Amino acid sequence: MILIKNKIAIENMRVAGKALAQILHEIKKEINVGVSTLQIDFIIEQKMRKKGLIPVCKGYSGYKYATCISLNDVIVHGIPNKKVILKSGDFVKIDVVGSYNGYCADLTRYFFVENVKGVVKKMAQTVQRALDCAINAALPGNRVSDLSACIQKEVENRGFNVVRKFAGHGIGKSIHEGPEIPNYGNPGCGFVLKEGMTLAIEPMITQHGYDVKILEDGWTAKTADGGLSAHVEDTVLITENGPEVLTRI
Ligand code: MF3
Ligand code: CO
Repeated sequence: MILIKNKIAIENMRVAGKALAQILHEIKKEINVGVSTLQIDFIIEQKMRKKGLIPVCKGYSGYKYATCISLNDVIVHGIPNKKVILKSGDFVKIDVVGSYNGYCADLTRYFFVENVKGVVKKMAQTVQRALDCAINAALPGNRVSDLSACIQKEVENRGFNVVRKFAGHGIGKSIHEGPEIPNYGNPGCGFVLKEGMTLAIEPMITQHGYDVKILEDGWTAKTADGGLSAHVEDTVLITENGPEVLTRI
């Protein structure tokens, strides 16, 4: 079932989304050589609490942190760790869910530690273009797979692949609501989008193969072949006037 959000839900999701966007903007200056991913998680959680946001990931299916911080070949769900120290050239993706008055927003941003390889820049640009294309297709009357298809096309046209194992999703009082939004597929299929739906759109792409390996910690999802991965995510409200991105400042 896909819920249509009322004014109160939308206003609270907007507050959560803007606050998270601001926090991930501010965190850029902390993404430096020698900093651990646990330190970054700690700073983000502090900033969230200061703004009255609940870190929804903490406690979700037994997960213990406010954020997922995924480096290089980690696709998603990298666990913050004091032993994981940022080094020059790292490609860092930070995924965070926060709620305000019980309503969630979900976003992911990527960062470079000093100078990264050309392919990292190209993947980052590609995953961003894929997200922006899907956001622009988030219009009343379009179908879920119209978003999927434009993501796949943007990514494959640049020689990369989309991950099949994870998908975007509806979002509201829960992190994950219907519909599921795969990052691949043919256009014109699935649910018809309607005004008042809120979607977390999150392309996950790989340098080479799209197969995923989950580590023994039960969370960390890496590329099976060790290639790099990129991820970015926004929470979007569908309106009659076009998409409103709730997670941008
Ligand atoms: N932001 C993630 C998602 O889209 C959720 C992370 S899983 C958690 O689906 F356990 F960290 F919450
Ligand atoms: Co998400």
